[in-house]
Amino acid sequence: MANTLFSFSLLTLSLAAMHGTHAEAVEYVINYSSGNSSGGVRFKKEIGVANTLKTMSSATNFIWDIFQQNNPSNRKNVTKVTLFIENSDGVAFTVNNEIHVNANYLGNYTGDLRREFNGVVYHEMTHVWQWDGKGQTPGGLIEGVADFVRLKANYIPSHWVQPGQGNRWDQGYDVTARFLDYCDGLRHGFVAELNKKMRNSYNAGYFVKLLGKTVDQLWSDYKAKYGN
Ligand SMILES: *[C@@H]1O[C@H](CO)[C@@H](O)[C@H](O)[C@H]1NC(C)=O
Ligand SMILES: *[C@@H]1O[C@H](CO)[C@@H](O)[C@H](O)[C@H]1NC(C)=O
Ligand SMILES: *[C@@H]1O[C@H](CO)[C@@H](O)[C@H](O)[C@H]1NC(C)=O
Ligand SMILES: *[C@@H]1O[C@H](CO)[C@@H](O)[C@H](O)[C@H]1NC(C)=O
Repeated sequence: MANTLFSFSLLTLSLAAMHGTHAEAVEYVINYSSGNSSGGVRFKKEIGVANTLKTMSSATNFIWDIFQQNNPSNRKNVTKVTLFIENSDGVAFTVNNEIHVNANYLGNYTGDLRREFNGVVYHEMTHVWQWDGKGQTPGGLIEGVADFVRLKANYIPSHWVQPGQGNRWDQGYDVTARFLDYCDGLRHGFVAELNKKMRNSYNAGYFVKLLGKTVDQLWSDYKAKYGN
């Protein structure tokens, strides 16, 4: 186990070096502690460590582009992201710079596993990089931004709601992602601007500042556009 982890770290360093265009390299590490469980075995066989490191890196670059964070001073100061493949419950979660993916979920997944895994990584990696208004941003909006990135990366699963569906703008996940996509259509780069504003705080007035309407009005317009 120790040897295996050591070689993963070496792989990590060479990848960081390849992305020299961004002055501050981010180190990516996989902690593959799910051992020989069926999900762990499937991860290793169908996805693999090298692919995962590449996906983490490309997700990061994609997210910086979406958030218009060309300059490191606009980004979170994150120097290392660790992704754990472990046997647990649910799909995945992120705490600070640690992404935890459930090996059992991967093991039981029916469908295009690579594509689903990439979507999960783009969503979770967004949590690593997005601003949360110093804890004031509503959870539904945080999840909506993460799924907006997943939508833009073209990694959405088939069970998502369609545009215009859902009950509340801050319902989270796919519902909020579709709504944010609508808002982004009204003003290109809206999600990037909103994220920038959430660096230090959150206020529903950000929607008014950026789009000239309250978020409730925008939600009504959005529902009306799709005949709901
Ligand atoms: C990998 O994760 C496991 C379980 O969380 C932990 O016990 C172990 O110390 C980690 N290994 C490294 C090298 O961080
Ligand atoms: C995994 O390996 C351990 C020994 O290293 C063994 O005891 C265990 O049964 C194995 N589990 C599976 C699911 O193969
Ligand atoms: C970023 O964080 C690293 C370690 O966590 C620290 O060494 C570095 O000085 C920080 N950089 C900035 C610009 O704050
Ligand atoms: C997936 O399979 C494992 C056993 O292989 C099981 O323990 C787990 O509950 C199943 N479901 C999920 C969602 O992980």
